Amino acid sequence: MADKAKIAILISGRGSNMAAFVYAAKSSDCPYDVVLVASNDPAAPGLQLAEAEGIATFAHPHKGLTREAHDQIMHDAIVRSGAEYVVLAGYMRILSDGFVKKWSDRMLNIHPSLLPKYKGLDTYQRAIDAGDKVAGCSVHLVTPELDDGPLLAQTEVAILPGDDADTLASRTLIAEHQLYPATVARYVTREADPEWILNQVRQRALDLAETHERESFGSPGWRVGSEKTGKYFAYFTQKLHGEAGVGLLVKTSGPDEQAALIDADPELYYSPKFYGPSGWIAIRLNNGRTDWQHIEQWLYKSWCLVAPKRLTKMIAIADQF
Ligand code: GRF
Repeated sequence: MADKAKIAILISGRGSNMAAFVYAAKSSDCPYDVVLVASNDPAAPGLQLAEAEGIATFAHPHKGLTREAHDQIMHDAIVRSGAEYVVLAGYMRILSDGFVKKWSDRMLNIHPSLLPKYKGLDTYQRAIDAGDKVAGCSVHLVTPELDDGPLLAQTEVAILPGDDADTLASRTLIAEHQLYPATVARYVTREADPEWILNQVRQRALDLAETHERESFGSPGWRVGSEKTGKYFAYFTQKLHGEAGVGLLVKTSGPDEQAALIDADPELYYSPKFYGPSGWIAIRLNNGRTDWQHIEQWLYKSWCLVAPKRLTKMIAIADQF
């Protein structure tokens, strides 16, 4: 298995979700290790459990500190631990924008409601009072707005006729313990997921002027120009012409450039079946080290090679200024 992702978990209390992560991570096929459990409360019961399980802990009370100063102390501890992801699990602090930005796309939270319903506190009672048939929990990426970031996964939990906030909370917690570790496992391995990779390519290809997507031999491809006369500048390959592996096909200036690229970095580049002889190069996208800016440049270069003159001319003029 590839190197495991390193996660830090932030707690303020009992830490039952944190415990679920710690036990999930004991399985050899779990794609992450818990490298730190940190808290704003040195007396948080979850810290004791983490210590007993041999996990590094850190605590620093927030009292008397500005939000920014306390967040900075937590941030420094997380960085020292080597963590790449921050998992909030009952961390009862509103985070400063600065901290959220530093961990943008790398910080997740679990919230005990079916977001966007019932942001904030008292979620169970609010769901019961509203007469809802189902409650649940949501895992989302953390953005500066409270309980508002992009949703990654949800589990619905039935509300029973006799439920009060406590009974509903304890049942929801069982769902949280299943959902959260599994969602983080999926998230930290997303870069190996062909669907995720395809979307990264797609967004960048369609960001270029006058482009559209069209399938070719069962693979997504992107063309520049009109629907009728457009030309392909990129293909996504997963099993294109029977070739395994996930890659991007783009145009080169010809066989010399193609050969030079393969020579310089044979792990990244290869000559694709069928397209290779006509000067296309394949770039591997599933080796865990994709530089997306580099991919963006390749898409642009390939787009320039086939785009209608009137489009490339405009760019040449703009480049002079
Ligand atoms: C959970 O209900 C979670 O949804 C919310 O805080 C609670 C944390 O519980 N964010 P625990 O500390 O993980 O037991």
